[in-house]
Amino acid sequence: MCGIIGYVGPRQVMPILLEGLKAQEYRGYDSAGIAVLEDDAIRLIRSKGKIAVLEKKIGSAYGSATIGIGHTRWATHGSPTDTNSHPHLDCKNEIAVVHNGIIENYLELRNWLLKKGHVFASQTDTEVLPHLLEEFYDGDLLAAMMQTVSKLHGSYATVALCKHDPQKLVAARRDNPLIIGLGDGEYYFASDMAALIEYTREMLILQNGDIAEMTPDGVRVFNDGAEVERQIQHISWSKKAAQKGGYKHFMLKEIHEQPWALGQTLKGRIAADEKAVELKELEFSPEYLRSIDKVVMVACGTAYHAGLVGKAIMEKLLRLPVDVEIASEFQHKEPIIDQRTLAVVISQSGETIDSLYAMRECRERGAKIIAICNVLDSTIAREADYVLYTWAGPEIAVASTKAYITQLMLLYMLTFYLAEQLGKMSGEQLQPLISQLYRLPEKVEQTITQLEAPIKRIARGMKTWEDAFFIGRGLDYAVSLEGALKLKEISYIHAEAYAAGELKHGTIALIVPDVPVMAICTQREPMPRMISNIVELQARGAFVVGVTWADQKDVIKVSDKALLLPEVDELLAPILTVVPLQLLAYYAAVAKKCNVDQPRNLAKSVTVL
Ligand code: AGP
Repeated sequence: MCGIIGYVGPRQVMPILLEGLKAQEYRGYDSAGIAVLEDDAIRLIRSKGKIAVLEKKIGSAYGSATIGIGHTRWATHGSPTDTNSHPHLDCKNEIAVVHNGIIENYLELRNWLLKKGHVFASQTDTEVLPHLLEEFYDGDLLAAMMQTVSKLHGSYATVALCKHDPQKLVAARRDNPLIIGLGDGEYYFASDMAALIEYTREMLILQNGDIAEMTPDGVRVFNDGAEVERQIQHISWSKKAAQKGGYKHFMLKEIHEQPWALGQTLKGRIAADEKAVELKELEFSPEYLRSIDKVVMVACGTAYHAGLVGKAIMEKLLRLPVDVEIASEFQHKEPIIDQRTLAVVISQSGETIDSLYAMRECRERGAKIIAICNVLDSTIAREADYVLYTWAGPEIAVASTKAYITQLMLLYMLTFYLAEQLGKMSGEQLQPLISQLYRLPEKVEQTITQLEAPIKRIARGMKTWEDAFFIGRGLDYAVSLEGALKLKEISYIHAEAYAAGELKHGTIALIVPDVPVMAICTQREPMPRMISNIVELQARGAFVVGVTWADQKDVIKVSDKALLLPEVDELLAPILTVVPLQLLAYYAAVAKKCNVDQPRNLAKSVTVL
């Protein structure tokens, strides 16, 4: 939700903080700030707006400081203003703190601190942290942090800097990510590895309850009062992977990366004879497999949409009931889950707090948990019983593209794996599907190559669109939901997805001349009904773009424009159909001159409830 950076070492800190913030701006971009220790005092610079505004405010006055912290914010408590920006200070301007998460009991703590004479400057929950540290500081910042976190309810990744400990940063985390980068005599804190890859590939991932102390001599990690060892992770992806690589936006780069990303997801997981999917990460006993009577998927946003595709294919091939739940809603029900339930949590970041809490609820009720994650060693990945990584590389654009397509890929793979393990399908039956699945990266490449230019042309006319509709049946409806979300979130065009058969139950009232409708038509059984729906829409003047196969002459005939997909088994169609919808959203946002990678009010990873 917010991005944190911290540095201790021999170098001038200011450029390191600014670069670290820029690399994490996608996590939050309504305000930013830094605090460095210079000439025996904390120098604080904060600004509403993007990091570029902060950079301008700092100007060339980088100073000589070699220790500091920085923060890029997505506002929760207190609107985005200079004063609400992080870092926050204690009463004496001696302790500076950055924080990602929400301190749920901040009002109670604030009242307690006010009674003790502390004076608050902002409306944020975070500001209780420097005041608590001030209250507990007795010459030992680490001890003060230990006491501080013992008072907190909620989630946090926080780093503190104290004027009296000029060579030290102290941090703590619970339910929000915090990474330590290990250099040679220099050390870093960040919310995301992407911010550190330029400096080091050796990283430590702090775990829940960890408190870390960092000096130029090294890093010490404590949990429950005792010093603990955390394994060093060697990060293999390149700096280039976290940069735009010649593309105008991260989103476009990530759309184009999808064939590669799918290849990464498939790598080492398909048997040589293509008759089986091999998921070595899953070690299910035959007894456990026989006991599963239900699958529950929990996720948010795009990952939830991937789950809807997963439900359709699993129910079809496994004949098991599958529930897909919006993670934030899941917490408000009494889910019917027990030891016979297999829970699948889908999350690109592995840090979405709604998904994390829903996963814990599943665990408490006895379910075994598979996490489908992209970010290595993220909280959800770590807490799940099994992890299937998508291996899609860093996804920087707020709008999820390659994460969705690789989540779909894993859901297909998991379904085929379970189909074989549960004896629902033989290797012979699976082979034609697995073989096509294995070749999907090429088909996605072909889809991008063939459709990008026509979509650009359609998008030029989208500047004037106010509303758009996406319709489909079955698997096509699941993908329509994702198409509508993509368009809304980056182009701000109001978009709705409907099961095509539902139109006549109300929505068709919204169809007026020229309103655009994306009609997804890949499922053959409901095709005649889709054609009727298109005709009904056109009778009311809609502009219909059909997304279909080249052999669907009737769809092509009735549509105003047709976008044709390379042929694959219709069961696998979602992996192709989403591509033109992503491109359409992208080019619509470009035509409207929107900020594609950092749409308003959003952040990449939602680590608050
Ligand atoms: C979609 O483009 C969004 N970025 C958003 O819906 C996202 O999928 C959702 O917040 C879940 O994130 P996660 O996969 O990191 O859990």
